[in-house]
Amino acid sequence: MEGQKRIRVGLLGLGTVGGGVYRMLLDNQGAIERRSGARLEITRIGVRDANRERDVPAELVTCDLESIVADPEIDVIVEVIGGLEPAGDLIRTALANGKPVVTANKEWMAKQGQAYVRYAAEHGLDLHYEAAVGGGIPLIQPLKHQLAGNDMVRMMGILNGTTNFILTRMTEEGAEFGDVLRDAQAAGYAEADPTADVDGFDAQYKLAILSSIAFGKEVDPETVYREGIRRVGKRDIEFADLLGYRIKLLGIVSSSGQDHLQARVHPTMIPKTHPLAAVSGVYNALWFQGDFVGDVMFSGRGAGSDPTASAVVGDLVDIARNLVSGGKGSAIPVGPKVASDPIESLETSYYVRLTVLDRPKVLGTIANLFGEYDVSLAAMEMRTLSAEKGEIVFMTHRCQEGRFRPAIEAVGDSSVVDRVENWIRVEG
Ligand code: HSE
Repeated sequence: MEGQKRIRVGLLGLGTVGGGVYRMLLDNQGAIERRSGARLEITRIGVRDANRERDVPAELVTCDLESIVADPEIDVIVEVIGGLEPAGDLIRTALANGKPVVTANKEWMAKQGQAYVRYAAEHGLDLHYEAAVGGGIPLIQPLKHQLAGNDMVRMMGILNGTTNFILTRMTEEGAEFGDVLRDAQAAGYAEADPTADVDGFDAQYKLAILSSIAFGKEVDPETVYREGIRRVGKRDIEFADLLGYRIKLLGIVSSSGQDHLQARVHPTMIPKTHPLAAVSGVYNALWFQGDFVGDVMFSGRGAGSDPTASAVVGDLVDIARNLVSGGKGSAIPVGPKVASDPIESLETSYYVRLTVLDRPKVLGTIANLFGEYDVSLAAMEMRTLSAEKGEIVFMTHRCQEGRFRPAIEAVGDSSVVDRVENWIRVEG
């Protein structure tokens, strides 16, 4: 369009996400121009290896990333490299040079980013990070704006697609974790090193980011309790099904009184009737409970080139509108760092699966041990495994984790119990 403001974008990183951003800005150029009131053009691209074949004009590409964030001809920076450094250093320099930034970097946002949101707000700049959580699902902007009038009661999310894919396959096929993980790696759905996903680090960062916005204070990611899905067995999934539940890796945060919150990532049993139970495969979802809005759920593709590019470009449009109108940016700072309450203070119910010796007084012994720690049992399933061994599953009533943990340790030490196979927290 004639006379439109031209906004020059410096793109740092041309991997899966960067490639998607480049394509989207070209493919949807007209619509983006109409909606933002500006022509967004990628004029420089920073990569690690300049000699690789790429579908972008060679003259845009450089290995000198510092020169992009220092370039007075660049209006906005998009950082899609990931990891703490050099990404963090480049974002800091871009902001110090007065450039608004869009980042998809969850680790940097969770660990350091909020300090720079404060800096951006003080300097009338934007620092947007919609793509850091939930890929293409709009989560950050709704939490910052449309839901901001609510006091958060609770938020639960499926924040990692790889683990949701694995748990879904385990559920549908009755398969074990290790077999599904190997298949997922072979098909490219899981990384060769799956630690960040299956051990819950990815979800931990994402939950810290969402909790910080919803709670209005910077939630220290290191204090967000984290447990991955490696211990979930197909027997747990079968028993969960029998009892009316699905097992999901959930990020859960709830307010636990003035200035207190509890944030945790772990495998969770949720009733099959809960909206999150139906979110399967690589899909992500966030279920938000606010005091006025009630329950709201967002779901969609949490990763991948196109969905993540959609979130980055949405942020770019926001920045472009701001630059066109001469606004001061809409970075929304949160309050000083807070720690999540320790997991021992959690009050919830538990599912427990034990292999036991099949002989008299076993049930009574176990029930007595739980009773000694004030853990009350709500339901039970039992199966014979062999002539000598049986399998027992208990559901407890709600109790404090600080009481449950020593109880399960005592049960495990009991002479009638062969092994505590697993225990999983249950959300009502
Ligand atoms: N590895 C993540 C997932 C996507 O499996 O959901 C990027 O955050």
